[in-house]
Amino acid sequence: MTQDEMKKAAGWAALDYVTKDSIVGVGTGSTVNHFIDALATRKEEIKGAVSSSVASTQRLEELDIPVFDANEVSALDIYVDGADEINPDFDMIKGGGAALTREKIVAAIAKKFICIVDNTKEVDVLGAFPLPVEVIPMARSYIGRELVKLGGDPVYREGVITDNGNIILDVHNLQITDAKDLENKINALPGVVTVGLFARRGADVLLVGSPDGVKTVTK
Ligand code: A5P
Repeated sequence: MTQDEMKKAAGWAALDYVTKDSIVGVGTGSTVNHFIDALATRKEEIKGAVSSSVASTQRLEELDIPVFDANEVSALDIYVDGADEINPDFDMIKGGGAALTREKIVAAIAKKFICIVDNTKEVDVLGAFPLPVEVIPMARSYIGRELVKLGGDPVYREGVITDNGNIILDVHNLQITDAKDLENKINALPGVVTVGLFARRGADVLLVGSPDGVKTVTK
């Protein structure tokens, strides 16, 4: 079974959590793309989606799923998104696709975060995947120096501008043993828009695609 087939299995499994007449929070990435394809088969039953990126909005609209502005909804039952890494406490590293800021906003609006991954994303300790940090462009050098003080090796993601007009620093060589603490510390730096640690608001349900099928883990 390929990695993409495992992503597809996890993406389609998330359909079980979609309820009638709801507006669904939709993440970003190759796993979520499978979920969007699945959601399209139920589009007559739902009101629509709130999207976390220009890319996901485009795919939703191509499949005739109405997309609502986040400001039009007061609550979402579920948010479905992938992750770059997830640990046993359901803390995640996200932002490999540079959509971390809007992902965190839509996740915050939702009552339940359904994380869909293939089994390569499960780790004991976060940090082998470089931690993305979205930064206001004028703060790039300052934030870089501060991230070094926190023990990481930040690398500017060349050629990438986020949907919000900012840049990404990918922080290498971290071993994240206290994800909430590091999330708070990086969030507190002036010029940081969003850190791709999702620990204060982690996942609630984990769907892991593997060659043996989809494993469901609930917190
Ligand atoms: C997008 O910015 C990320 O947070 C994605 O959720 C994450 O990178 C997972 O992507 P894939 O589903 O493509 O592996």
